[in-house]
Amino acid sequence: MKHHPAICFGLVNQQEHKTQGRIAMEMEKRKICVTGAGGFVASWIVKLLLSKGYVVHGTVRDPDDDKNAHLTKLDGASDNLKLFKANLLDYDSLRSAIMGCEGVLHVACPVPTSAPADPEVELLEPAIKGTLNVLRACSDAHAKRVVYVSSISAVLLNPGWPKDRVKDESCWSDKEHCRATERWYVLAKTEAESAAFEYGKQKGLDVVSVNPGYVLGPVMNPSLVFSTLVLLNFLQGKYFDVPPVLESCAPNKFWSVVDVRDVADAILMAYEKLEAEGRYICTAHNVTTKEWVEKMKRLYPEFTYLDKFAECDFDSRTSSEKLQKLGWTYRPMEETMVDSIQSFREVGLL
Ligand SMILES: NC(=O)c1ccc[n+]([C@@H]2O[C@H](COP(=O)([O-])OP(=O)(O)OC[C@H]3O[C@@H](n4cnc5c(N)ncnc54)[C@H](OP(=O)(O)O)[C@@H]3O)[C@@H](O)[C@H]2O)c1
Repeated sequence: MKHHPAICFGLVNQQEHKTQGRIAMEMEKRKICVTGAGGFVASWIVKLLLSKGYVVHGTVRDPDDDKNAHLTKLDGASDNLKLFKANLLDYDSLRSAIMGCEGVLHVACPVPTSAPADPEVELLEPAIKGTLNVLRACSDAHAKRVVYVSSISAVLLNPGWPKDRVKDESCWSDKEHCRATERWYVLAKTEAESAAFEYGKQKGLDVVSVNPGYVLGPVMNPSLVFSTLVLLNFLQGKYFDVPPVLESCAPNKFWSVVDVRDVADAILMAYEKLEAEGRYICTAHNVTTKEWVEKMKRLYPEFTYLDKFAECDFDSRTSSEKLQKLGWTYRPMEETMVDSIQSFREVGLL
C-alpha cells in the first residue's frame, strides 16, 4: 500500500524525531572511564556512576575472570557498562578504553597482600608508569578531568611534620624516608600522585586527587583484598599487615577509617564539582587498633579478638575538612562494620 505523501512525510518526521531524540539522549549521557573496575573500591564507583546514568568504560585485566562477574550484574550494567581488557603497562589497551570519555577515574594500582619480592616491578612500575600511561591517554582523548585515587599513605609518612599538628593536604610522605624504610606501597602512591600533578601541570590536564584512609565496607565478591584481610584477621584474633608483623602484641597504630561507599561519593564529587582542585584527604574516623577492636567486640562478641596491644607511638590524625567543604559527608563507623560483616557472610567469607 502506498502512503499518502502527507502521511508519509509525517511518518518520516516522526521517525527522524525519534532518532534525533535518541541521539540527543545518548549525547546527554556522560561517558567516564574507571580503571581497575573490578577492584573493591572501583566496583562501588562503577555502581554509583551507573545509578547516576553515566556510561562507564571499565578497565579490567581479565574480563572473563570470575572476580569481575559482579560488575555485569549491577543495575544498568547491561546498557551502560562496557568492559575493556587493559593493563596499566600497556598504553594502547588503556587508550582504547579512554578514547571517547570525557573524564577518567584512575583507581587501578597493585595493593599488596604480601611483601613484594621485587617492589620495582610489582609496585613502583605499575603505579608510576601506569599512572603516566593513563594520563597520556587522557591527553590524547582531551579528557576534561582525571581523578587520581591516591592514598592517605601519600600524606602520612613525613617525619618532619610537627607532632602536634593534624596532617592536611599540604603534608606529603617523604620519598627518601619511604625508600630508606622500604615502605614500597607508600613510596609508589606518593611518587605516582606527585607525577600525576606534575604531568597535569606540564600538559594542561586537569588532575585532582583523592587520598582515602583505610577503606572498609561491604564487598561485592569474595576476593581477598587488603581491605577485607585486615578486618577478617581482627575477627580471628590476628593482626594483618604488609610486611607481616612479628611482635607478640599487636601494633596499636592509628587508622583513618572510611567507608567504601563514602569514598566512591568523594571521588565522584572530586570529578563533578567544578571548583575541586588539588588533593582531598578522605578519612572519617581516627581510631587506634585497640579502640577499633573494642568497637568490634561490642558489636560482635562471638568472635575471638586481639587482647595485647603495644603502645601507640604514632599519632597520625588527619582532617577531611577540605573535602567536607565540597559537601562530602560520611557514615558512622558502626554502620560500616555491620554492613561489612553482613556482606562477608553473604559472599561466604564468614
Ligand atoms: N583499600 C584501601 O584501604 C585503600 C586505601 C587508600 C587508597 N586505596 C587505593 O584505592 C585503589 C583501589 O584499591 P582497592 O582496595 O580497591 O584494591 P583492589 O581491590 O586490590 O583493586 C586494585 C585494582 O587494581 C588493578 N590493577 C593492579 N595492577 C594492575 C595493572 N598492572 N594493570 C591493570 N590493573 C591493575 C587490579 O586488577 P586485577 O583485579 O586484575 O588484579 C584491581 O582491579 C588503589 O589505587 C589503592 O591504592 C585503597
